[in-house]
Amino acid sequence: MNLVDERVQRIVQAAGSAPSVYNTQPWQVEVAGSTVTLRADPARQLRHSDPHGREMLISCGAFLFNARTAARRDALNAVVKVLPDPDDELLVAEIQLEPGSTPDTDELELSVAIARRATSRVPFDDQPLFTDVLMAIEAAARKEGADLRSIQPSEPARDDVLVLMRRAEALASEDPAARAEEAAWTATDPGRADGIPQDLLGPSATNPRAPVRRFQASAGSAQFEQRSTMAVLSTPGDSARDWVRAGEALEHALLVATIYFVHASFATTVLENPTTRHDLRRALSLDGAPQMLMRLGYSSSPKHTPRRSASQMTAASDG
Ligand SMILES: Cc1cc2nc3c(=O)[nH]c(=O)nc-3n(C[C@H](O)[C@H](O)[C@H](O)COP(=O)(O)O)c2cc1C
Repeated sequence: MNLVDERVQRIVQAAGSAPSVYNTQPWQVEVAGSTVTLRADPARQLRHSDPHGREMLISCGAFLFNARTAARRDALNAVVKVLPDPDDELLVAEIQLEPGSTPDTDELELSVAIARRATSRVPFDDQPLFTDVLMAIEAAARKEGADLRSIQPSEPARDDVLVLMRRAEALASEDPAARAEEAAWTATDPGRADGIPQDLLGPSATNPRAPVRRFQASAGSAQFEQRSTMAVLSTPGDSARDWVRAGEALEHALLVATIYFVHASFATTVLENPTTRHDLRRALSLDGAPQMLMRLGYSSSPKHTPRRSASQMTAASDG
C-alpha cells in the first residue's frame, strides 16, 4: 500500500464512523487512486420508514462531512461533486482528494472529534446548553447551509413537539412493518458490524414528556431530564440535495458539540410520519423542512456502536 492509499483508507474509515439511522451505514465506497466515490446502498435503506431515502441520504451526508474533515487532517482538500449524475440518484458524491495546506488548529480539533463523537441515550444533566456553546453548534450547521433551531425548556411549543413525538411513536408501534424494521436493526448481536446493540439503546423513560426516543427493545427504565436543549435541523428545501446537505450540517454540528463535551441523541420517528412531520414544522413555524430532531446536553461518555471496516464498505453490500 503506498502513501496515497494509506491516507485514503484512513479517510474512508473515519468517514464510516458517521452517524446513520439505526446504524445502518447505508453507504458503499469505491476508491480509485485519490478519488472516492460515495454511493447510497439501497440494500441498507429502511424501505418502510424511509421510503424516499431521506434518512439514508442524511446518513450519507454525514459520511461526506467526515470525509471532508478527515482529509484535512492529512493535509488534503476534498473537492466534492454532490449528486453529480441526475440519472443516478444513488451516486451521492464524487470526492477528489488533492494536496492542500497544513491543517490549522480548528481543522485538527474537528477531525479529532470524529472518533470521540457518539450518540448518548442515557439521561443528561437537567440543564440547557451554555449559550455560547449553542451558538457555536448553530453556526456549524449554518456553514453547511442548514438551520439549527433550538427548542428551549421554557418555550411553549416544546410541549407540542413532545406530544407529536409520542404520537408518532405510538403510531409506529402499532405498525407491524415499522416494528419489524426497528427489530431488525436494534438489540443486534454484539458480533454484528452494524445495528444498535441493546446496551446502547438506553433505558426507557419513566416520564411521559422525556425528550428521548422510545425503543421497543430498551432494557430498564430511568427518569430523564426535562431541561436539556432540544433542537431541530432544517433545510431550505426538501430535495435529495437538501438531505445530503442536512447530513453534512448534522455532522458538522455534532463534531462541534463533541469539542465542547456536549452529547446528542435523536428522536426522528416524528419526522418519518408525513403528518407529524408537517405538524412539527407548523408548531415551530419553521421556514424550512425539518430533517432531524435531537436533544443536546451533558452526560457521561457513551460507548461506541460497531462499524464496518474500510474494506467492508468498499466491498459490494450483502445487505
Ligand atoms: C437520519 C438519522 C436518524 C436517526 N434517528 C435516531 C433516533 O430516532 N433515535 C436514536 O436514538 N438515534 C437516532 N440516530 C442515531 C443513530 O442511531 C446513530 O448514529 C447510530 O446508531 C450510530 O451510533 P453513533 O451515533 O453512536 O456513532 C439517527 C441518526 C441519523 C443519521
